[in-house]
Amino acid sequence: MSGLFITLEGGDGAGKTTQSRLLASWLEARGLEAVQTREPGGTRLGAEIRSLLLHGGDDIGDVDPRAEALLYAADRAQHIAKVVRPALERGAVVVQDRYIDSSLAYQGAGRVLDGADVRRISEWATGGLWPALTVLLDVDPETGAERRAERGGTDDRLEAEAREFHEAVREGFRALAREDRDRFIVLDASLPVEELHARIVAAASSYLPQ
Ligand code: TYD
Repeated sequence: MSGLFITLEGGDGAGKTTQSRLLASWLEARGLEAVQTREPGGTRLGAEIRSLLLHGGDDIGDVDPRAEALLYAADRAQHIAKVVRPALERGAVVVQDRYIDSSLAYQGAGRVLDGADVRRISEWATGGLWPALTVLLDVDPETGAERRAERGGTDDRLEAEAREFHEAVREGFRALAREDRDRFIVLDASLPVEELHARIVAAASSYLPQ
């Protein structure tokens, strides 16, 4: 595969979407094809799964953590097969909000499923595709919640989880970054948008043809 796969990770309200948009525009300005996408919900099937996972409401009742993990993995299988691999094969740069690390942090550290199991089902779902670079926008859960409140709207099923859940997720992400320093860069999500963008560009540049 000739393209480049970059993911952005972090808690809710970390600013991933803003940064992935800015990075995709920067890549396009350099004449590269950038595919900006996300999980869950990067395909039509995925959009259905996303709406079940996040807005299923009371109708779906309590979602078992394993069922939740499998739904994220199903979304991921479809997305990688139909969107990400074809784009990488064309030589595009894929800039993606959330990937396997989100499952490891939310379903693993947050829901306390076994991390090795969560990793295995996502690796099976994706044929073991990992990004070259992962940007972790590290945010403390309180700031994340304030930013979401500023954005308006109501919290989805995961956002509405207790503070301890979001603390565990944050720690989960930080631990993943410590274990894989070659793939991750960790940035303080409270930095100004432009500053974060500059740092992300600097990190991505080293993976691009000069
Ligand atoms: P996201 O699209 O980032 O939320 P929003 O755009 O509404 O800010 O992610 C949706 C939620 O799904 C988020 O709370 C994190 C959660 N999630 C998991 O629990 N596991 C996963 O594997 C993924 C990809 C997301």
